[in-house]
Amino acid sequence: MVKDKLNVGIIGCGNISQAYFNGLKMFPHAVEVSACADLSPQAADSKARENGVRALSVEALLADSGIDMVINLTIPKAHAEIALRALAAGKHVHSEKPFAVTREEGQKILALAKERKLRVGCAPDTFLGAGLQTSRKLIDDGWIGRPVAGTAFMMGRGPESWHPNPFFFYETGGGPMFDMGPYYVTALVHLLGPVKRVAAITAVSFKERIAGCKEHFGKKISVKVPTHLAGTLEFVQGAIVTLVTSFDVHAHKHPCIQIFGSEGSLNVPDPNSFGGPVAVFRPGSPDWAELPLANPYHENSRGIGAADMADGIRSGRPHRCSGELAYHVLDVMHSFEESSQSGQIVTLKSTCAQPAALPLGLRKGSLERDQP
Ligand SMILES: NC(=O)c1ccc[n+]([C@@H]2O[C@H](COP(=O)([O-])OP(=O)(O)OC[C@H]3O[C@@H](n4cnc5c(N)ncnc54)[C@H](O)[C@@H]3O)[C@@H](O)[C@H]2O)c1
Repeated sequence: MVKDKLNVGIIGCGNISQAYFNGLKMFPHAVEVSACADLSPQAADSKARENGVRALSVEALLADSGIDMVINLTIPKAHAEIALRALAAGKHVHSEKPFAVTREEGQKILALAKERKLRVGCAPDTFLGAGLQTSRKLIDDGWIGRPVAGTAFMMGRGPESWHPNPFFFYETGGGPMFDMGPYYVTALVHLLGPVKRVAAITAVSFKERIAGCKEHFGKKISVKVPTHLAGTLEFVQGAIVTLVTSFDVHAHKHPCIQIFGSEGSLNVPDPNSFGGPVAVFRPGSPDWAELPLANPYHENSRGIGAADMADGIRSGRPHRCSGELAYHVLDVMHSFEESSQSGQIVTLKSTCAQPAALPLGLRKGSLERDQP
């Protein structure tokens, strides 16, 4: 039996929160946001007014028996605390990435969710977008044959030039791997399945950075995490992918992700976006061919992963942005750092199921055929 839509409370009313308020409106059959909270009452009040919901304290939101599910948009080091408190309060929880800062926190979240029979999910949800779903469909349907290798590049000069609160990017739980790596590693697991082993070398190229936003203009940011990582992943299915994440690079011309198969090559769009272009090269063709996109989620659809979890709770099916997937990604990120420190290849202890692809032919607002 399909249950009613879930009543949602958002905790964390910062920079990314409006994208969720907007994106979740696309799925009224699955979710309705009714309240928001933040450590800063002003931030909660302002988002509540803008979106016509109640502003509550974090305690009051967690104590509200009418709220079924929390969307946790706090900063990385608060993700585990808020997720655990939400689960303890009997609520399903979907967090922004990373799932947690440490593996121990991640394991506690999975264990508590299991014990309380609640769902736990995590961003990124961009792999449900049209670009990455089209890429997945092409791989699953054999357009490039058996994937044997790939490359993935996320390189820039860091977010301190524009982000209003740039400090957390250079603290534990930040850095290019913990901040942007989840998009890339999650996209690769979505395309190729779980990871078997990784190796990496990391560096802190600049020990201090300078904030450029008007809120903190000129303030020094001390760097506590690696800001350049050159890594290799071996997937259980056999492909070997080179991944570089960096906040130390002014400009480059590498594609975001390419997958190389026995029968061709696939150009995968930016995994921090929902759209295309997706292009395939097959031997015998004069050039790469761009393909039409497989679903309607090609514009900013942040919140689709949380809506998919709510939808899965309603109908009893597994959700795609699962805690197990997010924990595996967290494990990969820590394993890179361990490899850099030890000089050894690290075999992953965790695994996860490859998330189910979205069906073709969806209408905007639906996540399964024949919805809502
Ligand atoms: N900004 C982006 O473009 C972006 C994009 C995708 C994902 N994210 C992720 O979303 C999360 C939030 O990012 P942001 O850019 O919105 O950050 P932000 O600093 O702008 O907002 C975070 C908000 O959380 C609140 N907060 C912190 N700890 C809290 C706690 N314990 N309880 C309640 N509220 C708390 C802060 O007061 C702040 O208002 C991060 O995990 C980030 O990686 C951000």
